[in-house]
Amino acid sequence: MATLIAYASKYGCTRKAAGLLWGKLDGRTDMVNLVREKKVDLSQYEKVILCGSIYEGRIQRKVKKFTEKHLDELLQKKVGLFICCMKSGEAAQAELEHAFPKDLLEHAVISDFFGGELSLYDMNLIDKFLIKVISKRDDRLTHDTSNLSLEKIQHFAEVMDSV
Ligand SMILES: Cc1cc2nc3c(=O)[nH]c(=O)nc-3n(C[C@H](O)[C@H](O)[C@H](O)COP(=O)(O)O)c2cc1C
Repeated sequence: MATLIAYASKYGCTRKAAGLLWGKLDGRTDMVNLVREKKVDLSQYEKVILCGSIYEGRIQRKVKKFTEKHLDELLQKKVGLFICCMKSGEAAQAELEHAFPKDLLEHAVISDFFGGELSLYDMNLIDKFLIKVISKRDDRLTHDTSNLSLEKIQHFAEVMDSV
């Protein structure tokens, strides 16, 4: 049975993390972009990795909707959850816990935050403005930084392969 990585990414960081993970996982692994795909058939997958990035404290809407729609089915599978975000430590853990339903987090074989990337160059005007405002009160959200943790991605892959 195969693994599915279902992701949503605005500027490519979560897609990059998902791709790095994809390269490390054993067996057939498919990737699906939840921003583009409307219908996803989970029946052929034994393991599902669900991931998205955090904007103003919330996981992307497409990930939330997907989780709500498929929650019962996801609870029957081996699930891994991760987020990409710029915060770290307890603040990132709180974002992770807010991103997915409690029962799915408890059911998951692993859940983690991988760090994130922020590039002003790529951002649309609204996000440029927002990040300027946010970075004044939270210096972890300073633009043009990258702190994606390859160690965490490696560990996540090892745990998913072991179940
Ligand atoms: C407008 C804006 C708001 C953000 N809000 C948060 C936030 O509340 N918490 C956080 O940890 N990171 C926040 N981030 C950082 C993103 O989660 C981070 O850049 C992530 O890597 C983006 O991933 P993506 O390119 O896959 O969408 C924000 C970024 C932008 C541009």
